[in-house]
Amino acid sequence: MNPAYEKLLKCYKACENKLPYNPKIGIVLGSGLGGFADSLSIDAEISYSEIEGFPVSTAPGHKGRFVFAKIDDIPIVIMQGRVHYYEGYAITDVVLPIRLMGLMGIEILLLTNASGSVNPQYLPGDFMLITDQISNFTPSPLVGANIDELGVRFPDMSNIYRGELQEAIRNAAGKLKVSLREGVYLQFTGPNFETPHEVKMAGILGADAVGMSTACEALAANHMGIKVAGISCISNLGCGLSDKPLSSEDVNEMAALSGPKFEKLVIQTIKEFGELL
Ligand code: HPA
Repeated sequence: MNPAYEKLLKCYKACENKLPYNPKIGIVLGSGLGGFADSLSIDAEISYSEIEGFPVSTAPGHKGRFVFAKIDDIPIVIMQGRVHYYEGYAITDVVLPIRLMGLMGIEILLLTNASGSVNPQYLPGDFMLITDQISNFTPSPLVGANIDELGVRFPDMSNIYRGELQEAIRNAAGKLKVSLREGVYLQFTGPNFETPHEVKMAGILGADAVGMSTACEALAANHMGIKVAGISCISNLGCGLSDKPLSSEDVNEMAALSGPKFEKLVIQTIKEFGELL
C-alpha cells in the first residue's frame, strides 16, 4: 500500500471513534482566526498530538486541534492550526490533515490564510476571494504512487475553487457589507518572505497574493473530489510594494486586527454553503 495512504488510514482509525458526527464542511483557520472556535459551542475536539503519526505544527501561534461544532445545524470540523511545508514535513504530511477531513466526510473545504499582496491595489486589511492558484513552487502532494482510493492519477485542476462556492462567498460578503477583492493565490515554500523581484515575478505570473500555505491543501482536496473555497486576508503589502521590511510579528498583528471581521465573514460563508449541501 502507498505509505502515505497507510499513514492516513492509521490516523483516521485513531480518531474515528472520537468523531461526534461526520462533518460536512471543513475549515482551515489561518493567522488571525485563532480565536474562531472560541465563539462556538464545541461538540468535540481532537488534539493533533492524540493522533499518532499526525504532523504537529511547530509554527508559533498555531494551536493544534480539530474542533467539531455546528453552525446553523451544519456539522463542521475546524482545523485550528495547520502544518506548513517550511516546517520540514514531507508534502504528503502537510496535506494529511486535509485528506483526513475528507475521510471524515467533508464535502466542502474552506481554506483561509493571511497573505502578502502582489496586486498593488490590494491593501492590508482587505479580504481576497481566491479564484485560482499557482502551486508550482512547492512539490505536488500527488507525486509518488497514486492513491487510487482518493482520486485519479492525473486529476483535472481547471475548477479547484468552485464557482458556486465563490458566489456564496460574494453573497456572504455582500450581506455583511464587507468589501471583497478577488484573485489568484500563489504559494511559495517560505519560511523566508520574498524578495522584491520574487513578488514582481509572482505578479507577472498572474498572482494577486502570495503566501506559504493553502495551494497544496486545495490541490490535495480537489484530487479527492472535495469542493474547495478560499479566502485570504491581506496582512501586508508584498515585499517591494513598500519600503518597510517584513516581519512575522507585523503580519500576525495585522491578521489579528482583521480577525473579528474575518470571523464574521467565515460564519456567514458557512451559512451560505449550507444552502448548497
Ligand atoms: N509572503 C508570504 N507569505 C505571507 C506573507 C507574505 O508577504 N504575508 C503573510 N503570509
